[in-house]
Amino acid sequence: MGHAMSLTLATPALYPVSEQRLNSASSPLSLDIKRQVQRFWQKSPCDSWFTNEPRGTAAFYRSLDEHRYKVHPRLQLAVGFEGTRGLRVLEIGCGCGSEAERFVRAGAHYTAVDLTNAAVSITRRRFQLANLEGRFVQGDAENMPFPDGSFDFVYSHGVLHHTPDTPRTIREVHRVLSPGGRAVIMLYYRESFNYYVNLGIVRRLRAHLLRTELGIKLSGAIFGETEQDLRRHAELIRKDPGSYVEMQNMLNRNTDGPDNPLS
Ligand SMILES: C[S@@+](CC[C@H](N)C(=O)[O-])C[C@H]1O[C@@H](n2cnc3c(N)ncnc32)[C@H](O)[C@@H]1O
Repeated sequence: MGHAMSLTLATPALYPVSEQRLNSASSPLSLDIKRQVQRFWQKSPCDSWFTNEPRGTAAFYRSLDEHRYKVHPRLQLAVGFEGTRGLRVLEIGCGCGSEAERFVRAGAHYTAVDLTNAAVSITRRRFQLANLEGRFVQGDAENMPFPDGSFDFVYSHGVLHHTPDTPRTIREVHRVLSPGGRAVIMLYYRESFNYYVNLGIVRRLRAHLLRTELGIKLSGAIFGETEQDLRRHAELIRKDPGSYVEMQNMLNRNTDGPDNPLS
């Protein structure tokens, strides 16, 4: 059975205020989570917290890209932009558009789809500043508004685990790819040091520290997270200590900020 929801998001000037409908065959519960996911990324477009440059300026994009490829030195090689010349490329979850720009500069015909108008608008502005061409669609990876077989290459970096029905997004990727098409997708890897040691042990121990004022200060020095975020963690721990340390919640809250509803 299909459900639809619509929501209005308050947005700063760079983003047009828009009402978005999400048509989905998902359960009402997962639609509710998706609404929270959309709100979170609308408020905090991915990576935008890594720079103080004003959003939508050339300096903003330059400093984001510098930071991104310093932190992910092998990413550009892994994507293989040069192999996408002349291909119809779809990026799911474009964020602030760093790879978007590189696809187009490599000669691809680029389309972005993202759940938020923040990401779509920031990426569109990047293209306007650089005089590049692309297509930008605000939409849901679980129900993509594209015909079967309409792309040769699908790219998605750090996105498909942030939506309630990840297997459905994979079926969608398969559907929109033309025969012989390729997908390059990055998902978080569960069998990792980060999952078992950092989240499972270190961050859980930190939850105890965050119960006191001294612990908050100490955590700031050790973990380098902002005091505002640490105080938000502390508030969530006070509210419901048991659910804070559940593993899914540890993952959600300790990856892209304490209010991320789904990681
Ligand atoms: C962690 S950010 C990654 C952005 C970018 N790929 C990057 O690496 O910086 C996750 C992005 O996925 C988008 N997103 C989450 N769920 C989505 C969905 N169901 N459909 C489309 N985009 C989605 C969010 O709006 C956000 O822009």
